[in-house]
This record gives sequence, C-alpha cells and structure tokens, in this order.
Amino acid sequence: MIIPSVIEHSLRQQAKQGQTLNVYLYEMSRMRRKINCLKRLMPAGVEVFYAMKANPHPAFLAAAIEEQVTGIEIASLGEANKAIKAGFHAEQMIYTGPGKSIEELQWSVQHGVRTIHIESLVEAYRLNQVCADLGKKQDVLLRINANFDIHDAQTTFSGGSKKFGIDEEQLDVALPQILALEHLNFHGLHVYAASGVLNVDDLLHNCQLVFDLTQRIEQQYAGVQCDIIDFGGGFGVDYLEENNDFDPEAYAIGLSKMIQDYGFEGRHFVLELGRWLAADCGWFCTEIIDIKTSRGKKQLVCAGGINHFRRPAALAINHPMGIVSLGRDKLFAAQESVRQESVYFGGPLCTSADKLANDVFIEAADVGDIAVFGLAGAYGLSMSNTGFLSHALPQEIVVTKEES
Ligand SMILES: Cc1ncc(COP(=O)(O)O)c(C=O)c1O
Repeated sequence: MIIPSVIEHSLRQQAKQGQTLNVYLYEMSRMRRKINCLKRLMPAGVEVFYAMKANPHPAFLAAAIEEQVTGIEIASLGEANKAIKAGFHAEQMIYTGPGKSIEELQWSVQHGVRTIHIESLVEAYRLNQVCADLGKKQDVLLRINANFDIHDAQTTFSGGSKKFGIDEEQLDVALPQILALEHLNFHGLHVYAASGVLNVDDLLHNCQLVFDLTQRIEQQYAGVQCDIIDFGGGFGVDYLEENNDFDPEAYAIGLSKMIQDYGFEGRHFVLELGRWLAADCGWFCTEIIDIKTSRGKKQLVCAGGINHFRRPAALAINHPMGIVSLGRDKLFAAQESVRQESVYFGGPLCTSADKLANDVFIEAADVGDIAVFGLAGAYGLSMSNTGFLSHALPQEIVVTKEES
C-alpha cells in the first residue's frame, strides 16, 4: 500500500510529541468525490443516503451534509442523535435494522423520520401501536429477506435463515396484515442482499429480483404501489488490493436500463451506502511496541489491536498496510527488527484473537515505527471491542491535504 504523503506527514509531526502513537487519521476528499460521482452517474430517482454505521465521526457526517446526500440511514437512537447534532433533519433519516426499541420507535414517529423500515410483524404491530398512542401515521418500507444470496460477498444479509426482514416466502401472510394496520403508510420494499460486493452484476441481479417482487406485489394487491425501493448498501472496496474496485458507472448504466425495462420511471430508488463512501478516507496507525521471534516467526505487537481495529480479525482478512519508519534508537544492540519477511501483527490484548494481520510481507520494520492500515475509514473504530482491557481510545484526527 502506498501511504499518502498527508498521512505520513501527520504521523511524523505527531511522533515529535514523544507520545505512543495510536490514532485514526481521516482525510475526507475521497468521500466527497464519491458522493459527487454518484450524483453525476445515477439515473433519475436514485437517492444516496450515507449509512452512518460505517463511520459516525462528525467529519464523515459533515462531508455527507456538505456534498448534499439525500439523507442518512440510521439504526439506533444514538445514531439519530449524532446525525441531528451534525445538522441532519429527522425528515432526512431512514430508520433500518432489527430490534428497534419502543423508545426508538416513539422518537422516530414524534420527530418525523422519513421512513421506518419494518423488520418483522412484531415490529409492524408495535410501531402501529406507537403511532396510535401518538395520534400519528408513519411512512414505512417492508424489509424482505429475499430467497437469494450473493455467494462471494463479505457478509450476506439475505437468503437462508436471517434475523433481517421477513422471508419472501412469508410475504403473502405478512403483507396483508401490514397493509391493514391503519397507522402505517406502506411505501415499498427494502431488500439488502449483501455487503462488500465487488461484482456489479451481482448487485444488479439483486435489483432485478426486487423489481420482480415489486411487480408481483402490485399485481396481487390492488391499489398498492411501491413508490420507494431500497436496495440497501453493498458497494465493495478492494481490501485485497486486486485492482478490483466496484464500478459505479457500470452499476448506474445497468440500473438505468432496468428502470426503463420495467417502466419504473418516477419512483424513488434508495442506496444506503457506508463502506464504499467511507473506507478509503481512514487509516489506522499504531505504533509497533515490540518485535520478537517466536518459533521461527516474527511477532509484532502494536499499541492498538482488536479493541481499536477489529475488522481484520472479524472478517479474517488482511487490510492493505504499510510502515512509516521513524528511525528510533534501539534499546539494546541485539534488539530484533524485520527485514523482508512475512510476519504476524497483533495488539496488546490478552487474547490470541487479537490479530491485526498475519503472514504479511514487510520490507522493513523496527520497534517504534508506525504500522498503517488502509481502508480503515469504514467499520473501523465503531465496530471494535473498545472496552476490552480498558485501554485509552485511539485519537481520531482529521487531516487535510494542504497540511503536507
Ligand atoms: C440496513 C443497512 N443499510 C446499509 C448498510 C451499509 O452497507 P455497506 O457498508 O455495505 O454499504 C448496512 C450495513 O450493515 C445495513 O445494515
């Protein structure tokens, strides 16, 4: 991985302060460019929402607001509060995710969240009750667990037995009940198949499946129209550095043709994107505290581990990475270094699950250097085990290109 000069410069500046380095560095220009790229490419009716679970840091929310995304996808009251603080309005929020509490539903109805995406019949009845108590009606989408899954995706959200949505096969039982709930206004479907998808055709296949389902529902239930169709997130990034980036232009062309083929012009199509917008705006940078050989393999222990950057261990992949060499003095003459070898990177936690990378080839690294993990802007700190061993949280610093 090539470490951008703005990141290296910032690390060298921070190193001068003499504190152990353990920091997320964020540089937001890529997310801004990507939002604008989508706005330019996507066919009429496509609305881009930022899925803030990818990174709820204020810099990401500010970039989303300033580049004028349609809105924000939230999945908890905590996210709603952060989004409001950043300047989003409740009418720009779509509320997804299983297990919404009664307090979260009440807040959403009271504040006028744009759509609540129903994940089960229990949730539909609970929301209807909340609306009745508040004397309000709520626009909703129904999340479907489609009978379809994308095999090579990093994480699948549909197909098989899932906690997400209502199984497609149960629709004929569930939908009439939801349509009959008098405080809910049904507006359409939400089918989010998978996350981290690099193959455009796979995601377009999901769109086609949703369009087929939409047609079937509209034929079967007189007077019902799905004027909003939500495809979830899913655009992948190239963690394995295989020159295999998701191609938004090919997706836009395919989706545009499909909208025309089905005669679906005039509807709203929602994309709730997290990873693709946020991943390449973040680097997790952590100081190499120790290097030792154990049974023939170098073990590098860093200041932060899965308490601060859990994703590589959780997904069992190595992120792209590089080393910033700081040329610090050795503590003793025989102190070990790494020179052109494959090594293991771990953190300071008392569990062998605490892995940052394994079998990664490193040109050169010494104690005191900084290991820099790229594509860490999405599902980095927010997905980590921050409480385990009670280490201080890493800093989160926003850098701008002019600083280099
Ligand atoms: C409901 C929902 N929408 C959107 C996203 C964002 O997905 P991605 O980061 O793959 O774009 C997620 C991620 O888990 C999700 O659960």
